[in-house]
Amino acid sequence: MTLPRDTEIVDGPLLLRPWRPDDARALEAAVVESIDSLGRWLPWCRAGYDLAAAQDWVRRCEQGWTDGEHFAFGIFDRASHELLGSIGLNQRNHLHRSANLGYWVRMSCQRRGVAATAVRMAARFGFRQLALQRIEIVALPDNQASRRTAERAGARFEAVARRRIWDGEQAKDGAVYALVPEDLEQA
Ligand SMILES: CC(C)(COP(=O)(O)OP(=O)(O)OC[C@H]1O[C@@H](n2cnc3c(N)ncnc32)[C@H](O)[C@@H]1OP(=O)(O)O)[C@@H](O)C(=O)NCCC(=O)NCCS
Repeated sequence: MTLPRDTEIVDGPLLLRPWRPDDARALEAAVVESIDSLGRWLPWCRAGYDLAAAQDWVRRCEQGWTDGEHFAFGIFDRASHELLGSIGLNQRNHLHRSANLGYWVRMSCQRRGVAATAVRMAARFGFRQLALQRIEIVALPDNQASRRTAERAGARFEAVARRRIWDGEQAKDGAVYALVPEDLEQA
């Protein structure tokens, strides 16, 4: 099944759509602004992040849609089209109909409910368009913002899985949350 690249998901003030090449400059600006907030949790978010890195990310996301393996969206303000963050379904497991969900929100737009809403929007896409049965969110145990976001979106905490996350240098434990389709039927 090929999914249209012009997929747009709207809910309240948010718009999710696949990354496009002309988003690269806004992406670079959002990441550079957010290094202090994101860098602790996301190993790729470091000083020196530049336009080439943003362009490379967009290219890889376009390929992910083509391959049907990685469905990455920019999160935008629906009215102003300002870039607010990023969310995506990856690590798709075709056999078990599951995937992982990752996200970040730029520093200047955090704590306004953006991530919690975007999680539900992306999960709905995963359940309806990809027929997923399970979407995992895995956070470092001390990442309270991410854990609270998962809970707020309706995901259930299942376990701290040992050595679940490879951070580029070492394996770390991960707090595993999951959403199943029924979770989105609740408010
Ligand atoms: C995690 C992150 C995406 C949350 O984005 P956000 O848009 O600020 O989240 P929301 O406003 O939707 O808040 C969701 C919940 O998390 C809570 N929360 C948000 N930031 C928090 C923080 N720094 N500390 C504690 N709780 C926090 C909110 O209060 C809310 O819970 P509540 O409804 O019980 O009050 C953002 O902090 C981020 O980008 N962090 C760095 C990247 C990251 O860790 N990504 C996840 C990797 S697993």
